[in-house]
Amino acid sequence: MKETIAIAHPNFALVKYWGKKDNNKNRPAMSSISVTVDSMYSKTKIFKNSQSNRHQLFINGVEEPDLSKIHPSLMYLSQFSKSEDYLIIQSQNNFPTSSGLASSASGVASFVTAYESHYNLNLEFDYKVESCLLGSGSAPRSLIGGFVLMDHKNDYICKQILEKSDWPLDVLICVVSKEQKKISSREGMEISKKTSPIYQEWLDMNHKHITLALDAIKKKDMVELEKVTEKNCKMMHEVMKTSTPSISYMTDVTHSCIEEIDNLRSLGHKLFYTIDAGPQVKIICDPKSTEIIKDIIINRTDVIEVIHAGLGGAPRIINED
Ligand code: DP6
Repeated sequence: MKETIAIAHPNFALVKYWGKKDNNKNRPAMSSISVTVDSMYSKTKIFKNSQSNRHQLFINGVEEPDLSKIHPSLMYLSQFSKSEDYLIIQSQNNFPTSSGLASSASGVASFVTAYESHYNLNLEFDYKVESCLLGSGSAPRSLIGGFVLMDHKNDYICKQILEKSDWPLDVLICVVSKEQKKISSREGMEISKKTSPIYQEWLDMNHKHITLALDAIKKKDMVELEKVTEKNCKMMHEVMKTSTPSISYMTDVTHSCIEEIDNLRSLGHKLFYTIDAGPQVKIICDPKSTEIIKDIIINRTDVIEVIHAGLGGAPRIINED
C-alpha cells in the first residue's frame, strides 16, 4: 500500500499575529514575520484507511478524536485530488505538543506536504498556503525556510525575506513546561479580540512592526530586530493580560529566563527573545554566544531543557519511517 511521509519544521513569529479576521476561513487579522527552525520537526505519514470509512488522525501514536484542525485542509485538498479515500494520518513531533512550540504549524504543513505528494498534485504555492491556512493560521509560514513574511493584505502570500544561509542565527528553545496549554491560541485570541481594550491599538501597530522588522532583517541588524521583536512580544502578552478573563501563559521560570537574557545582553552578547501562547522562551542569538547562553539558562533557571536549533528549511518528503 502506498504511504507518504513528510517532515515540516515549526516556525516562531518575531512579529506575531493574535486575532482572526475571519473565523470560518481561519484568516489572521494581521501580517506576521517568523523564523523557521531546524532540529524540531513534525513527521506525518498518510495512507489509505482500509479498515474503516472515516479519516483517522494519530498524534504521537494516540488517536485524536478531534479532526477539526485537519478537516478543512483535507476537504480543500480533496477538491484537487478528487480522491474519496479515507485516510490514516499519523503525525509525530520530536518536541512537546500543544505547549506553545508551534506543533500545529509544523503538523499541518507536514500533512499538506505529504498529501500533495501522495496524490501527485503539484499544487501552485498559493494553494498550498490556502490548505495550510485552513488548518492553522501560522502553518503557511512553515512552508518556507529562513525568515518568512505572511502578508495579510496580499492574500496571506508568504515570502522568504532571507534564507538561513544569508543570516545563520541560532535559536535556543528554553522548555519551561511540557504541559499542554489550558487555553488554545484559537480560544485565547478570540477572547482578546472581543474583550481587550488595547486590541485595536495592537492591530494598528502591526504595520509599523512589520516594516521595522523587515528593514532590520534585510540589514541583518540584530539590535533593531531585538527592539521590534521584544516590543511586539510584550505587546501581545499585554493584549492577553488585559483580556477578560485575563490570559497569562508565562510562569516564574519564563520571567527568570528573561532576566538572564537581559543580563547576558548587558555583558555584550547578541541575543533576543520571543514568547508565544505558552511559557517557553525562544532565544534568537549570534552563534558565537550560543554555548554561554545555554550554560547560563540551564544553570541559573529551572528550565527543563534547552533545544539548540539553527534556522530551518522548507518541508520535504522522506522515504524512511
Ligand atoms: C501566538 O496559528 O497556532 O503563536 O490558527 O488556531 O492554529 P490556530 O492558531 P495559531 O496561533 C499562533 C499564535 C502565536 C503567534 C504567531 O505564531 O504568529
